[in-house]
Amino acid sequence: MSSLLILNGPNLNLLGTRQPEVYGSTTLGDIEAMCVGHVSGTKNRITFEQSNHEGTLIDLIHSALGTHDGIVINAGAYTHTSIALMDAFKSVALPMIELHLSNVHAREPFRHKSYLAPVALGLICGFGAHGYVLAIDAMLNHLKASA
Ligand code: DQA
Repeated sequence: MSSLLILNGPNLNLLGTRQPEVYGSTTLGDIEAMCVGHVSGTKNRITFEQSNHEGTLIDLIHSALGTHDGIVINAGAYTHTSIALMDAFKSVALPMIELHLSNVHAREPFRHKSYLAPVALGLICGFGAHGYVLAIDAMLNHLKASA
């Protein structure tokens, strides 16, 4: 059994109405339900969180130590700016997957830079809401292989 923390950063609470041409019409609540449904019937557990605040995200990463086995994060714009989030992942040394709904590499150049990628197991981007399910499966697979 594995326990995963799925973290969502700034502005993702507005999914559904925020730039639907880029991010789709699925709400964050829909995505959470999809993730919970995906692991239901298994012994795996997920905790789903969202915050618009960098410090709160860092606190959640710290508190994952001893509670969760791996973290999937869509850090939103903090991906491209936050050395503090990168340091938090380095500090807890839990496996982490960087996730984005959109293909950030097909967008503005400032979205091509990620402070998280160097400390991530891997990246999933461009598959919309389905990327969350892909990331959960990738993390569960990794945890099983390294058990
Ligand atoms: C995003 C991509 C980021 O560049 C952007 O700032 C977001 C959402 C995505 O899921 O595609 O807020 O992380």
